[in-house]
Order: sequence, then C-alpha cells, then structure tokens
Amino acid sequence: MKLLAVGFLIAGCAIGADPAAELKRTCARCHKLDVVRAQRLSREEWEWELDKMTSMGAKIGNRAALLDYLTRKYGPDGKPPFVRR
Ligand code: HEC
Repeated sequence: MKLLAVGFLIAGCAIGADPAAELKRTCARCHKLDVVRAQRLSREEWEWELDKMTSMGAKIGNRAALLDYLTRKYGPDGKPPFVRR
C-alpha cells in the first residue's frame, strides 16, 4: 500500500512538473499559444503576466515550473518572434 502511495506521489509530481503540458492545458483554454510564444519577457514580466492571467481566471498548477519555463523559452534572450524558416 505504501509503495502505491509513493508511486502516485511521484506520478503527481511528474505531471505537475511538466511545464510544456501545463502551458497547453492551462493557457490554451482562452487563447492560442501564439499569444504566449510571441512574447519576449523577463522573469518579472512573466510573473506579472501570470498574475494577470490568474486574475482573469487561469488556474495554474505548478506556477514556479511554468515561470522558469516561460523565462527560459520566451525570455529576452529568445529568438525573435514570428521568424519561421
Ligand atoms: C481565463 C482565460 C485565460 C486563460 C486561462 C489564460 N489567458 Fe492569457 N489572456 C486572456 C485574455 C482575455 C487576454 C487578452 C487580455 C488583454 O487584451 O488585456 C490574454 C492575453 C495574454 C497575453 C498577451 C499579453 C496581455 O497581457 O494581453 C499573454 C502573454 C497571455 N495571455 C499569457 C497567458 C498564459 C501564459 C496563460 C497560462 C498561465 C494564460 N494566458 C491563460 C485570457 C486567458
């Protein structure tokens, strides 16, 4: 029984820790993810953006992981938006 509980815990963490899945699940509910991908924001700005989306009704599971992911992928050092080759 104990092992089973541990298994669920690990599975739960793994799901919560996949920010790409979280982004799709949470953020594509109201708008296309292009809205997100077009941004190049600093960590503070993403923080602000997540606050704004939360205030509009977004239910974010693992906020810290999502914030890291957004800053890494869509941060100020990312490739310019809408450049597709
Ligand atoms: C409850 C609906 C809803 C959810 C869920 C949602 N958004 Fe939004 N989002 C909006 C609306 C409405 C706008 C347009 C707001 C405006 O024009 O001020 C928007 C606009 C944006 C913008 C454009 C910049 C801005 O502030 O207008 C970004 C970036 C963004 N959302 C990111 C996200 C991210 C990241 C998530 C997931 C954590 C998310 N959104 C989830 C409703 C939502």
